[in-house]
Amino acid sequence: MSYLTIKNLSKTYKKSSGFLNTKTFNIKALDNISFSVKKGSCMAIVGESGSGKSTLAKIIMKLLHPESGKLTFSGLSISDLEGKKLLPYRRKVQMIFQDPFSSLNPKFTIQQVLAEPLKIHRLGNEYEIDNKVNKFIELVGLKKEDLKKFPHQFSGGQRQRICIARALIMEPEMIVCDEPVSALDVSIQAQILELLKNLQSKLNLTYLFITHDLRVVKYMAKEMIVLQKGKLVEKGTVKEVFSNPKTNYTKSLIDSIPGSI
Ligand SMILES: Nc1ncnc2c1ncn2[C@@H]1O[C@H](COP(=O)(O)OP(=O)(O)O)[C@@H](O)[C@H]1O
Ligand SMILES: [Mg+2]
Repeated sequence: MSYLTIKNLSKTYKKSSGFLNTKTFNIKALDNISFSVKKGSCMAIVGESGSGKSTLAKIIMKLLHPESGKLTFSGLSISDLEGKKLLPYRRKVQMIFQDPFSSLNPKFTIQQVLAEPLKIHRLGNEYEIDNKVNKFIELVGLKKEDLKKFPHQFSGGQRQRICIARALIMEPEMIVCDEPVSALDVSIQAQILELLKNLQSKLNLTYLFITHDLRVVKYMAKEMIVLQKGKLVEKGTVKEVFSNPKTNYTKSLIDSIPGSI
């Protein structure tokens, strides 16, 4: 059963250039994209830089308006929801970004970082919020003592763990991960991927997982789509796409996996 469906989604950016910005031109970031995601599954979204992956993520997060297209989540149309009506969706769908440093407020302790979304959504009193903060910091492999520290006292991998805890503390159903390990040292990437994978099965989460690394796709996802210049050029199970890639772009990505023939 489909859980998240995206139908005929398009997005064009208008850009200005030239003397006094007199020339404007359009960038078609997404061109008539349709796909659906099953509950509890991981859908990989693959594509080279500039192919429209983050635009798609922002539209799903309702951070950006598409010019056309329909989104439904759990049987409910969310395309036209705004303001207060959007709050339950905003809670159920969380996002993890590529750069774990710029997405943490440097003036907040980790305790404050984790408590903030709960306070904004008025989810519990001080005691309940404290309990949750303690629980979720440990769930991502950090310690209660870490709650007193500030973001700069942590490594990149630890900061991404904090961002994961901040997303999970809202008890979401779905998480959009936008290249969550691309900014990390290679030696740390596998640990964070393993954590995300374990959390997915433990908490029965649905993932939309953006990456340009097909090794990550193989490890994390069962289904995938490939975007190229805003167009959807592949859609299917990871097995199908790997064994029968339709575009040269996907072929070259598969060929670039170390150890592949
Ligand atoms: N705010 C914006 N204004 C104008 N163009 C944008 C904006 N954001 C992205 N783009 C353009 O849209 C296209 C898709 O960008 P993006 O969704 O960030 O791709 P990806 O995440 O796959 O690298 C690119 O050509 C990019 O330059
Ligand atoms: Mg991007």
